[in-house]
Amino acid sequence: MKNNTPILTDSHKRDHAYLRISLIERCNLRCTYCMPEAGVQLSPRSHLMTYEEIYSIAKTFVEHGVTKIRLTGGEPLIRKDIPIILEKLASLPVALSITSNAVIIDRFIDTLKLHGVNSINVSLDSLDREKFKEITRRDEFEKVYRNILLLVSEGFKVKVNAVLIKGFNENEIIDFIHLTKNLPVCIRFIEFMPFDGNKWDMQKMVSYKEVMDIVNASFSEKEIERLEDAPNDTSKNYKIKGYKGSFAIISSVTNPFCDSCNRLRLTANGQLKNCLFSASESDLLTTLRAGKSIEPIIQKAVAAKFKVRGGMDTLEKLQEPKLHSQNRSMITIGG
Ligand code: GTP
Ligand code: 5AD
Ligand code: SF4
Repeated sequence: MKNNTPILTDSHKRDHAYLRISLIERCNLRCTYCMPEAGVQLSPRSHLMTYEEIYSIAKTFVEHGVTKIRLTGGEPLIRKDIPIILEKLASLPVALSITSNAVIIDRFIDTLKLHGVNSINVSLDSLDREKFKEITRRDEFEKVYRNILLLVSEGFKVKVNAVLIKGFNENEIIDFIHLTKNLPVCIRFIEFMPFDGNKWDMQKMVSYKEVMDIVNASFSEKEIERLEDAPNDTSKNYKIKGYKGSFAIISSVTNPFCDSCNRLRLTANGQLKNCLFSASESDLLTTLRAGKSIEPIIQKAVAAKFKVRGGMDTLEKLQEPKLHSQNRSMITIGG
């Protein structure tokens, strides 16, 4: 297998070894920060990648240096052919992982193990059943919580993603951290980010600094340990000394980590996004279906990647609805 060749290196000299593939635009939850209230215009079925097409595109990326693939959605596990997608992708030399809401993940424990998926990221924004229902518009807290415990007991490495929203769940930060006393998971607090239709407002975001102020008010300096972040990590990692788990902050708004970005995204309808916030997309699927090489398109898209947040390099630009609404809704990007 070749090492990173120039087609996955951008003009800022960043190599891209991590491909996030969104498998489906639908979800079994309706999180308010992710899906617009009125839903989204779904792609016609024929415009979605088949499992053969997913494999073929992924293989091209792997040949050019991708070593990590994460499957996202919508909710990736509601795609009917998920077992075969996992089987095909597991035949490539990559670390394969998945981000899920965990509502039905208990049905897939054996399939995930069979295909070497041992690290799972689960979204969970509240530990309170009523609040969970309010934010997801579905009453599935118990299933999700039970499934997180199941994943841990089955030996998976679990990260829990909690998007923080001012006045809604920042009062649960300490409860989430207490959970890591006996549970070996990493709880990641995420700054709320703007996407089309999610009614983002900077005032609703809880910043990295605000999270740490809350943590510092509950734990002494001696108890809080700053952990070393993995290369290309999205999160700043911490733990409370003696606790089995850890916690982290993903600060895309106040402290973007774009300098070390190694991620590219493939949407369920076969479009390459060079950044989570990119307004433009490159159509790989049509070219693949025409029997032509997708490599020149990939090379051009990667080369054109902006240095920071799809060109929204200041907080002023990020707050400009005209700019962040040119992007898709999060539900059809997959995070
Ligand atoms: P690991 O591989 O475990 O590090 O996961 P991850 O952080 O790449 O993926 P996950 O799907 O769990 O995403 C967690 C949060 O990080 C989500 O809110 C994502 O939108 C955000 N995130 C992931 N990748 C990027 C990125 O490239 N840029 C930005 N700004 N945010 C990202
Ligand atoms: N801001 C920050 N994170 C978000 N996610 C979804 N929408 C947003 C948003 N607007 C997170 C979910 C999921 C991950 C893939 O992306 O919590 O865990
Ligand atoms: Fe990479 Fe874009 Fe995320 Fe920055 S905002 S880390 S460039 S995907």
